[in-house]
Amino acid sequence: MTKKLYIETVGCQMNLLDSEMVVAALRRQGYELTDSTDDADTILFNTCSVRQHAEDKIYSALGRLRATKQAHPDKVIGVLGCMAQKDQKTIFDRAPYVDLVVGPGQLQQVPELIEQAREKPGQYVALSLDRKAGNLDAIRRSHEYFDPLRDPTMRPTPFQAYLRIQIGCDKFCTYCIVPMTRGPEQGRPPEQLIAEARVLADQGCKEITLLGQTVNSYRHVDGGRTTRLSDLLAQLHEIDGIERLKFVTNYPKDMTDDLLQAVRDLKKVSHYLHVPAQSGSDDVLKRMKRGYTVADYDEMMARIRETIPEASVSSDFIVGFCGETEEEFALTVEMVERHRFKNSFIFKYSERPGTTAAKLRPDDVPEEVKKRRNNDLLAVQNRISEEDNRPFLGRKVEVLVEGPSKLSLKQDDQSEVLQLTGRTMCDRIVVFEGNRRLIGQTLPIAIVDYTPFTLHGSVVTRHVHGITAGAV
Ligand code: SAH
Ligand code: SF4
Ligand code: F3S
Repeated sequence: MTKKLYIETVGCQMNLLDSEMVVAALRRQGYELTDSTDDADTILFNTCSVRQHAEDKIYSALGRLRATKQAHPDKVIGVLGCMAQKDQKTIFDRAPYVDLVVGPGQLQQVPELIEQAREKPGQYVALSLDRKAGNLDAIRRSHEYFDPLRDPTMRPTPFQAYLRIQIGCDKFCTYCIVPMTRGPEQGRPPEQLIAEARVLADQGCKEITLLGQTVNSYRHVDGGRTTRLSDLLAQLHEIDGIERLKFVTNYPKDMTDDLLQAVRDLKKVSHYLHVPAQSGSDDVLKRMKRGYTVADYDEMMARIRETIPEASVSSDFIVGFCGETEEEFALTVEMVERHRFKNSFIFKYSERPGTTAAKLRPDDVPEEVKKRRNNDLLAVQNRISEEDNRPFLGRKVEVLVEGPSKLSLKQDDQSEVLQLTGRTMCDRIVVFEGNRRLIGQTLPIAIVDYTPFTLHGSVVTRHVHGITAGAV
């Protein structure tokens, strides 16, 4: 009998990958996906705690299921991921009809727990140890990797995949919940990663994005041998079929020269670095305990520009962090002007219970001020993104075609020739008209127009034996 699974995922790429694994595991047990909670016999939420908003979304979705569960007590409802690890049993206080609470380090238990909940209704909990639980080894062991199954049908596209190279985080930025929800930093063994990448390549995957909270801090020590991210990239580079390698997210202090040289020298590695700065003020960085100064970040940017001049760099910023003054915010604007990021993800500070900032510092920047700073910084970034897209006009770029564009998806365009989207080697989004069969190919596209976020182009037609072979 087929069982129907509804799963909703919020949060970062790590969470998308976790959901992919959970779905793959459940498919093996005969589950099929459904996009309606009415049809589903199992309803899962893979949650995020990084900002309050992400949690509110899930609690309201759970609220809407109250009546559903009353009418159909046999439906199993599970809360997985970071919010499960952070809120633990308090989730049952707000939604007593939830059956499962499973942290991101315990996802391998999901199939079994669903079965148990169906056989014997109750409140099932599987969580990793708290960071303050004592013995570091035991804490580490309680956060398990969950990467057993690679199912090509579950990926964003069959030719793109995430590969988790590191779990957890040890940086403890004062605003951030991630070290509490994802546990201690651990690099996965390179042999496992290479084997997994080979499986992906055999399945037709062309692009692999390596994931880690501070991916460039990756390190694996085995006996006397240490593998760094640059070594891992060199090994992955050798795998036939893999055309592109990316890695996110980078920590500024760990952007070492060997890594920059690897990005420069290894042809398959994307010239794209996502290195969040968070703030352009030394005082704010200190309050955030980011572990570097503005001068350190500037020095890193100079090395990036010198080693890989064509690289595009993107950043994250938090505006309205505890005590942020207008002067401090102005320094962040200056930093964006100075480094001309390809794009920046800008967030309003959201206090997270359990973090050092929440304990030590009042969340004292008013919401309207946070909103204004967010809009102001975004306007500066968007102007820069637009200006930096202008030189692409008339140029030809190599694009890995990912699929129908957002517009085509919205219009539910079923035609053979439609608007497609893909990315350049430096992670710029390109949209163009083309045939569906181009999806998954790498093609030259001539750029004819641009906005701050997108390059618009057309497929470059090739001359073969005197006839024009249009790729469209
Ligand atoms: N590990 C990554 C990303 C972590 S979360 C890194 O360190 O870069 C992604 C982004 O969310 C962070 O870069 C930060 O800009 C933002 N963020 C984290 N905690 C936040 C909070 N409490 N309020 C607002 N934004 C936050
Ligand atoms: Fe959070 Fe800082 Fe770790 Fe990133 S580096 S996950 S912002 S604690
Ligand atoms: Fe959110 Fe957890 Fe990722 S808190 S950003 S889902 S690591």
